[in-house]
Amino acid sequence: MWKAGKHMFQTLCKSIEENAPIHSRTIFEEFNLLYGHPWEVTATSDITTYYSSLYGLVKNEKPKRILEIGTAFGMSAATFLKASSENLELFVSMDLGIYAQQYDLPWSNIEFAESKVHKWCEQNGVSKDKVLFFQANSQPETLGDNENFGNEVTKWYRIPHLLRALQGELFDIIFVDGKHTEDGLLNDMKTFWRFLKPGGLMICDDLHDPIEYEGAFSWTNDTWNSYHHFIQQFDNEIEESMIWNFPKVPPDTKFGLRPFGLVRKHQNVPVTPNLDFEMFDADSAQHINKARQDHLASLGLGLAYSSVLEVGSGVGWHTAFFERMSCSVLSTDARESNVNEHLRRYPYREVKVADLNVEGSHKAFGKFDIIYCYGTLYHLSNPSIGIKELANLCNKYLLIETCVSPVDNGEINLEAENKDNPNQSIDGTGCRPGRDWVIEELGKYFPYIYLSVSQPNDPDFPIDWPVTNGVKNARAIFVASREELSLQTLTPNLINNQSYLTPLFEE
Ligand SMILES: C[S@@+](CC[C@H](N)C(=O)[O-])C[C@H]1O[C@@H](n2cnc3c(N)ncnc32)[C@H](O)[C@@H]1O
Repeated sequence: MWKAGKHMFQTLCKSIEENAPIHSRTIFEEFNLLYGHPWEVTATSDITTYYSSLYGLVKNEKPKRILEIGTAFGMSAATFLKASSENLELFVSMDLGIYAQQYDLPWSNIEFAESKVHKWCEQNGVSKDKVLFFQANSQPETLGDNENFGNEVTKWYRIPHLLRALQGELFDIIFVDGKHTEDGLLNDMKTFWRFLKPGGLMICDDLHDPIEYEGAFSWTNDTWNSYHHFIQQFDNEIEESMIWNFPKVPPDTKFGLRPFGLVRKHQNVPVTPNLDFEMFDADSAQHINKARQDHLASLGLGLAYSSVLEVGSGVGWHTAFFERMSCSVLSTDARESNVNEHLRRYPYREVKVADLNVEGSHKAFGKFDIIYCYGTLYHLSNPSIGIKELANLCNKYLLIETCVSPVDNGEINLEAENKDNPNQSIDGTGCRPGRDWVIEELGKYFPYIYLSVSQPNDPDFPIDWPVTNGVKNARAIFVASREELSLQTLTPNLINNQSYLTPLFEE
């Protein structure tokens, strides 16, 4: 099954078939995974080419970042580590963690896998901090595993550490080997495709042809249909795709075949730079953007699959955070020139001109689950109108990051800004409101207002208030909510001592 392309997969797969790069058993010997789990027969058998085939694919990619859905007992995780450890910056694997129980074993498969792989990391000088295992449900709504057991397991996007690891940078390889039945494979492919970098490789398995395998497996038809729906739906983002009908586990009959689906994402077509907007693209702007979004991922708010209104979107640097969470996003900005540049860079997005100082400016856009207002409130000459406007459109959370006054003085504190700069106030007047003013104003429209307990890792965010150390743009983060939130990351109190968010990795 081919998508017209350069047929690179065919050449690579043929060379692996003709010359196995490693024996699958060699991998499991090294990771102490030959015995002690339900798949001993697969781990020890000469018939098993599944893992040597996976090894060959991975080695060829020289990946730095790998994501796996469906850890089971860690055999594929071991294969990824063995094939990539020289270049590896991050390996993330998630699983429902109930697989061993289904084999009547009293332990957790994800903990078993983690202990084997981490032991190998210790012995081979690979930092365990970059090899992460999570008990998580990758499926949406009430779905779980093949029989929809485990649907109560925490969703992937509600686990702060996991979400931070996913949102940090895109992945070179994503291996999708979780729920096989119903639309399980399609759901996982769609959800995690957004985390694959341009040019990256997605691998999924058990793509048995329904005609050949009618009634043989619980997933016959389902994985096949999922894969083909995905290929059709994402056609314009796919460089090449192929089903590789070779990887095998015992028995040595056609029922041992475990065909991989291989999907290569297109490289991006580079957008020509536009120096008129370089203030949005500067390194300092990128640093604070990354710090803010790492912090937002850490809050545990569960923002995925939501409708989002992003205001003050500039040229669109923040939007991808929500796109990667399968959200639908409408972005607005007061400047037509910013909107045009945003659309030049990302023509497929929905971006509108609307000025938050004007009452009713956003009314026509309808209501949204989430309103994201980062780096915008302090550029308003009338922040009271801005907050009222956004509150009226908000079903769930209004997320605000803004420069504030270094002291909580209960005032708006208007301030002159350069209106000729595309990332400043449109009418030449901004504000640096006291944190207490923001909280009081939000309290007119929302029953629950929170401040973040930690601050993003950027020097613009102070941790001790009032701010006396001369930080020019003291920033703070507020969450206004329609429902009460009991998250350790948020406080209903106007605290004067915050902490910096612990970095995910040692620098
Ligand atoms: C076929 S096994 C994975 C095999 C493993 N990749 C290997 O080759 O060593 C499928 C795994 O996916 C997990 N799984 C199924 N549905 C899931 C879901 N909704 N979220 C996360 N993991 C899931 C199962 O619990 C099981 O451990």
